[in-house]
Amino acid sequence: MKGRESGMPEEASWSAFFDAEAAVLALLGPQPVDGNVVEFGCGYGTFTLPAARRTNGIVTALDIEPDMIASVKMKAAAQSLPNIAASVRDFVAGGTGLDANSQAHAMIFNLLHLEHPVALLREAHRIIRPGGVLSVMHWRSDIPTPRGPPLTIRPLPQQCAGWIGEAGFDSIIAVDLSPGCPYHFGMVARR
Ligand SMILES: C[S@@+](CC[C@H](N)C(=O)[O-])C[C@H]1O[C@@H](n2cnc3c(N)ncnc32)[C@H](O)[C@@H]1O
Repeated sequence: MKGRESGMPEEASWSAFFDAEAAVLALLGPQPVDGNVVEFGCGYGTFTLPAARRTNGIVTALDIEPDMIASVKMKAAAQSLPNIAASVRDFVAGGTGLDANSQAHAMIFNLLHLEHPVALLREAHRIIRPGGVLSVMHWRSDIPTPRGPPLTIRPLPQQCAGWIGEAGFDSIIAVDLSPGCPYHFGMVARR
């Protein structure tokens, strides 16, 4: 089932909200990721492509929308990034299909407002290897933002941190995404 309020505007408009390279640098770290990365709900691949340039493993990009996956595949080919594996998948209904402990990093960006965030986080916890990292980014609620889900369902950083802990992660740390992503907060946690 597609998560609530998870539709996307035109790509140019969406991309303008972020400095995606800076966000990926801040959330994945300055060293290349040593292992595989998975992105839940990759959308246009705004963060998939920067992540693929920063890992020596495979970036699995999952989305329920075939058009989004087609777009990511085209960009991966155009940018000669053979380490992107993009697939149409409903990870709410069927999980990621990835092996337990197979990922060094999982990215969940602009998605934790969906109906069952802890279930999604538990799936991330299952597939991330011990010592691996989860990164989360979402729209801020404390300032006006040009887009984002309604404030009634938009998660606060402390809610996300609570859910992340409930799913089994620890060492939950806030990541400052300014100035590149002024409308977003970030956090990372360790499996
Ligand atoms: C708001 S967009 C965010 C895209 C991307 N993470 C980003 O920040 O640029 C959420 C994405 O999640 C996808 N999505 C929603 N529910 C899903 C589900 N159940 N399974 C897979 N993808 C889903 C949507 O199709 C959409 O592309």
